[in-house]
Parts: sequence; C-alpha cells; structure tokens
Amino acid sequence: MKTMELVFLLIFFPVTLSVKHSLKLLVTTSSGVKNFPDYVVVGLVDEVPTGYCDSIINTVEGKQDWSQKMFEDDPQHLEWYTQRCLLHQYEYKDQIDILKQQLNQTEATCNPLWDLTLLSDSLSGVHIFQKMNGCEWDDETGEVNGFVQYGYDGEDFIAFDLKTLTWIAPKQQAVITKHKWDKDRAQNERWNYYLTQQCPELVKRYLDLGKSSLLRTELPSVSLLQKTPSSPVSCHATGLYPHRAMMFWRKDGEELHEDVEHGEILPNHDGSFQMSVDLNLSSVTPEDWRRYECVFHLSGVKDDIVTKLDKAVIRTNCEFPAGPVIGGVVGLLLLAVCITGVFIWRRRDNGFRPANSSDSSSSDPSSVKDAALN
Ligand SMILES: *[C@@H]1O[C@H](CO)[C@@H](O)[C@H](O)[C@H]1NC(C)=O
Ligand SMILES: *[C@@H]1O[C@H](CO)[C@@H](O)[C@H](O)[C@H]1NC(C)=O
Repeated sequence: MKTMELVFLLIFFPVTLSVKHSLKLLVTTSSGVKNFPDYVVVGLVDEVPTGYCDSIINTVEGKQDWSQKMFEDDPQHLEWYTQRCLLHQYEYKDQIDILKQQLNQTEATCNPLWDLTLLSDSLSGVHIFQKMNGCEWDDETGEVNGFVQYGYDGEDFIAFDLKTLTWIAPKQQAVITKHKWDKDRAQNERWNYYLTQQCPELVKRYLDLGKSSLLRTELPSVSLLQKTPSSPVSCHATGLYPHRAMMFWRKDGEELHEDVEHGEILPNHDGSFQMSVDLNLSSVTPEDWRRYECVFHLSGVKDDIVTKLDKAVIRTNCEFPAGPVIGGVVGLLLLAVCITGVFIWRRRDNGFRPANSSDSSSSDPSSVKDAALN
C-alpha cells in the first residue's frame, strides 16, 4: 500500500469506530399547570423515547414496539419501573417545594424557560424542576460515563461528580443543597452503583432487544432553505437516524468554519431526527455560489449526502417544512419540553462549574425562543 493511501485511511477511518450508546431518564416536575401531570418521566435509549410514566397514569408505558414487548414479556421489569415512578414522585414534589423556599420564589420572577410572550400570562407561577440521569456506554472500549444532573427553571442547578461521589453546585443558591446531599453517603453510593453497574447493563439489554430499530440507519432528505433573499441559507436534513450525524458547509472542498452556524439535532415525532447548518452568504458574489456545498454525514454510513449551493433548489419561507416536536402549538409546549427538555437544557450544560466562577452560564432566553419557535 502506498504511503499516501495509508495516511488517507488513517485520517478518514479512525482506528476505533466505536459508538456510544446511552440510557437517560428525564424527570420533569412542574407545579401550577392545570390539566397537566406534575410529574413526568421519559426514558430515552440513544435519544429515542422508549418508556413513559406520569402522575396521572401512574404506570409505565413502552413507547416503542420493542419496549412494549419487553414489558409484556418481563412484568417484573415493568414493576421495577412502576415502583420507581410512584415512589419517586413524592420525593421530587417535596424537593421542588424545598427549592422554591430556598430560592425565595413564591411567585414567578424570572423564568427563562417561559420567557415567551405568548405564554407569560397563562404560565406565570410555573416552576420546572428537571432531573436527568443515565449513562453512556462505548461499545468498543466498554468505557462508561454516568451522570445525574438537576435543572431548575431551565438552568443547571446541581450535578453529581462520580469521581468524588459528591455534588457540584454551579450556583450559589444550590450550595445549601450540595452540603445536604454530600452528607447522604448511602444515597451517593447507590447512585454510583446505578450509574456504573446497573445502567450500562440496561443499555446493553435494551440494545439487544431493540436492535432492529435502534441500530438501523436512515438517511434524511436534505434541502436548502432561505427565509428572505438576504438571510443565511440553511441546509436542513430531516428524517435521519441515528442522531449521530454531522453536517457542515464546504467551499472548494474545504470545510468552512466562518459565517457558519450549527443548529442542534432535534427529535421528530416519528422517532427520527433533524438538524441544520446555516451559511451567511452576505459577502459572497453570485458567481462564487457554485463553489459551496453542504455535506451531511451519518455515523456508520459511507456515502455522504452532498448538496450543491444553487439558487434554483433553494426553498423559501412559505414552504418551510414542519418544525420539530417542540415547534408550534403553544398548548403542547410543556409536553414537548418534558420530552425534549433535555435538548433545551443541554444548551447550557457544557460542564458544570462550581459557584463563584464567572456566571457565563446564565441563561439565554433568545436561544431557547429560537429552539421553541423554530
Ligand atoms: C431568601 O430570603 C431570606 C430572608 O429574607 C434570606 O435570608 C435569604 O438569603 C434569601 N435567599 C436567597 C437565595 O435569596
Ligand atoms: C452576515 O454577515 C454580515 C457581514 O459579513 C453581517 O453584517 C450580518 O449580520 C450577518 N447575518 C447574519 C444573519 O448573521
């Protein structure tokens, strides 16, 4: 083999083609929303909603064919989840009350998650307390990462540090809670056991049971969209699966970083995902357009989808495709947040920093608004 070929292979086919699989439980408690369950748990396997439970139905439902069948075949497993769903409710509802007192919030003051003018009236007084726990398992190296983190009203509140088995408080308001929870060694040991032992076993079991759907690949349809002639051109892919995908703009074959804005991967109703990457063309002359192309790459699939920048194929505002789950209907927004809240929350979750470090993690309501109203 020629040296160049070898170099090429090493660059484009990294030695380990490992994939990280995950199990996450997203718990949302809210207070003060009429006709809405104040406790909702969604279980996600590889970001796909797989199980569901809330304080109205009080039982656990499989959300995929394979998880429904799993619960039918293994009632004990269903019972295990159902017990947790029931018992944990009361614990969380107490926690939200304690937090409200701790944060001196008897009335809603500043609630970034709901900083949407449409909602501000109907939802004043609403508080959202979310917990996300779970693990990632690397199918090649066997490495496991576990996490437990809490968010309050859409912002990071407290997170578990598996190395020290203590809690990290990114904000001054959470320091009291940190000290309290640090003392509960038995509980922290239980977290350690769940995150490093039980959770990865569950991931492997679910992957095996659901492999025909969880391990499938689906290429998206890719289109170029532009709201007005002066706005950036958005390269939009929808219907992709799994969520491990990359999309970028290229000029003369080279990846662009300037004037490019990457959107997040968002869930669709049907279990597939969508993503987009915007390119600001305001300083590009029409003759140069043909030098640009959008590249979509799906993990595990060799061929990329390459879309040349061409005025003739750009779709304009009026034919924008339907938004992600979270788009649109105001009445369903809370439900959407419960199911996809993790996506909103994640915007601020690149690393928990202890309180007193500069507070650059403060919320950015406009980005939430963008996600919600996309
Ligand atoms: C809440 O109010 C009490 C009494 O007014 C005060 O001592 C405490 O520091 C306040 N807590 C926060 C987080 O502002
Ligand atoms: C696009 O870039 C131009 C300058 O290069 C800038 O003035 C404009 O605000 C940018 N548009 C967006 C939507 O970022």
